[in-house]
Amino acid sequence: MEKQTVKNYIEANKDRLLNELLDLLKIPSVSADSNYKADVLKTAEAVKQRLIEAGADKVEVSSTKGFPVVYGEKLIDPNKPTVIVYGHYDVQPADPLNLWDSPPFEPVIKKTAIHPDGAIFARGACDDKGQMYMHIKAFEVMMKTNTLPCNVKFMIEGEEEVGSANLGPWIMENKERLKGDIILISDTSIIANDIPSIDAGLRGLAYMEVEVTGPNRDLHSGVYGGAVANPINILCKMIASCHDENNHITIPQFYDKVVELSAEERAEMAKAPFDLEAYKKDLNIEDVRGEAGYTTNERTGIRPTLDVNGIWGGYTGEGAKTVLPSKAYAKISMRLVPNQNSHEISTIFQNYFESIAPQSVKVTVKPHHGGEPVVVSTESAGFKSASLAMEESYGKKPVPTRGGGSIPIVALFKKELGLDSILFGFGLDSDALHSPNEHYGLFNYYKGIETIPFFYKNFTALTQK
Ligand code: BES
Ligand code: MN
Ligand code: MN
Repeated sequence: MEKQTVKNYIEANKDRLLNELLDLLKIPSVSADSNYKADVLKTAEAVKQRLIEAGADKVEVSSTKGFPVVYGEKLIDPNKPTVIVYGHYDVQPADPLNLWDSPPFEPVIKKTAIHPDGAIFARGACDDKGQMYMHIKAFEVMMKTNTLPCNVKFMIEGEEEVGSANLGPWIMENKERLKGDIILISDTSIIANDIPSIDAGLRGLAYMEVEVTGPNRDLHSGVYGGAVANPINILCKMIASCHDENNHITIPQFYDKVVELSAEERAEMAKAPFDLEAYKKDLNIEDVRGEAGYTTNERTGIRPTLDVNGIWGGYTGEGAKTVLPSKAYAKISMRLVPNQNSHEISTIFQNYFESIAPQSVKVTVKPHHGGEPVVVSTESAGFKSASLAMEESYGKKPVPTRGGGSIPIVALFKKELGLDSILFGFGLDSDALHSPNEHYGLFNYYKGIETIPFFYKNFTALTQK
């Protein structure tokens, strides 16, 4: 075969590259819902098959206590660096289904104002099947055009959306096999399709579930109402007390370890283009709201938060039922920033929440999964390689940003493997990840496939021993 350029190869295989992703999106790999167990496993097998077809060796579906990790590698030269690609093949639940304009696992291509070339609408289109698959296709392109400059290992997991609890142990058992120089991840966003950016950090997470118990049974709200604590009323009050009028979190010690950015660092961050009007318009809100003294980008990037993710109890069915409920529940998550620690914050929250409960109720606090925040040095060879790669394919230097979301395993890669991760995302925040009508731009998909090989080339050159 004649030596083809990456761009030509993508162009010549455009439809196939897309159709393969659409097929993958048709399998509902919802890791949170046990009804989809067979589909999650089927997706792992499909990813394995795609890695084999793309030219990877030693491809296997490697079991864990939960869903398996798909591993594959191409080792071309022990004297060349090794890029370890991480991604996830599981997706968030699609609920609420009635808010989707088309079924979540029947991908369709539609044009939008932000994606005039079209976007793929399906659960997982952006997070993370679309972005993960770009790496398998970029690898295929490099194999087929004889341009793979270094070694590559793939580690694609199936439990990211439920906290990656079994990936840690898997990494410990596979340390030998995971020797490498950098972790490359596409599971974050850029600012806009004409404003490339790279996250130089991610927030951590502490996720709690609280239960407030009042009387030993649901009561008639007329017979007892006014005399017995209503756990839902109490829970709402307790939650409301977690923020003051400036939207600072009131929990003692909560901010103790938060790294405050210097005025210079904040000025640097403020250079990232941000259109507040477009932001509000996209969300159909009249105003934003957050911690006083910080900009929207700072509120999501460098400041911790506390949010209720769900709250329930009492009667929520049709019509009215006059009940004073026995129990109230809430799921509460806190996004963490350097140097907060998820275990410490969980304890701090638990102590506080128990301490503010009135005598009339009992409170239990149960921590769920968590994850630590990360920062990536913009001076590292990995970051520079990614930055240069985007510059080569977008024709513009990417802006360093801070991502508000979390990928809990990234901190563990550093701790257990000693490896930095590069957050080489190509999605948009407006792509509705975790929401109904999730989508991923065709432009973004193809641009990702085109940009990734530049990373390999740059990283190989910059780390040449
Ligand atoms: N891909 C996201 C994380 C993300 C999205 C980071 C956009 C930055 C920008 C990931 O799949 C995710 O949703 N993570 C979860 C954490 C997990 C423990 C459920 C999150 O951030 O809520
Ligand atoms: Mn993701
Ligand atoms: Mn996600």
